[in-house]
Amino acid sequence: MTKIEARNTCGAGADTILERLGLTPADLTARGLRIYPEAESLEVVETGDDGREHLLIPEAAGAWRGLKQAALDDGIPLFIVSAFRSVGRQEEIVRRKLDAGLAVADILSVSAPPGYSEHHTGCAVDVSTPGSPLLEESFEETPAFRWLASQAGRFGFHLSYPRGNACGYDYEPWHWCFRAPE
Ligand code: DAL
Ligand code: ZN
Repeated sequence: MTKIEARNTCGAGADTILERLGLTPADLTARGLRIYPEAESLEVVETGDDGREHLLIPEAAGAWRGLKQAALDDGIPLFIVSAFRSVGRQEEIVRRKLDAGLAVADILSVSAPPGYSEHHTGCAVDVSTPGSPLLEESFEETPAFRWLASQAGRFGFHLSYPRGNACGYDYEPWHWCFRAPE
């Protein structure tokens, strides 16, 4: 399995973005957000039809493969829309939204501030199933979501952002994160 060393892209940009968001790390902590370390070792867990390679840390990748096969065995096809993205990439996403004039509250209801996203841990996946619009709340109505809601926990995956989540993000039925058993 290909192992990829993640480039540490957590640089001065993240601080600048927080300033532009008018937020301090203390504000984000008060909001219930956590800083996560960026993954150091990643592997390709899935390649999209568009050729895009999706990366996870090895433990999460193994768990995802087990989950995906079990779902398929139950007639539920799943695929990854997005997995690892670096702190630097998250910074770029938030910066683009700021540059486009989006309100800070609107940005923070869908995007984590750089440094605070589960995606740079290499443990989080955004998933979908054929026929469902990508990254839409309607994913909740699919058999795939119902399967995940009842079975994902067996593989160490949980729904990070349910309705009314403490982080203040919009409901994300597609976002699942692996946490190794303690
Ligand atoms: N969409 C989630 C909150 C993220 O940006 O990590
Ligand atoms: Zn996500």
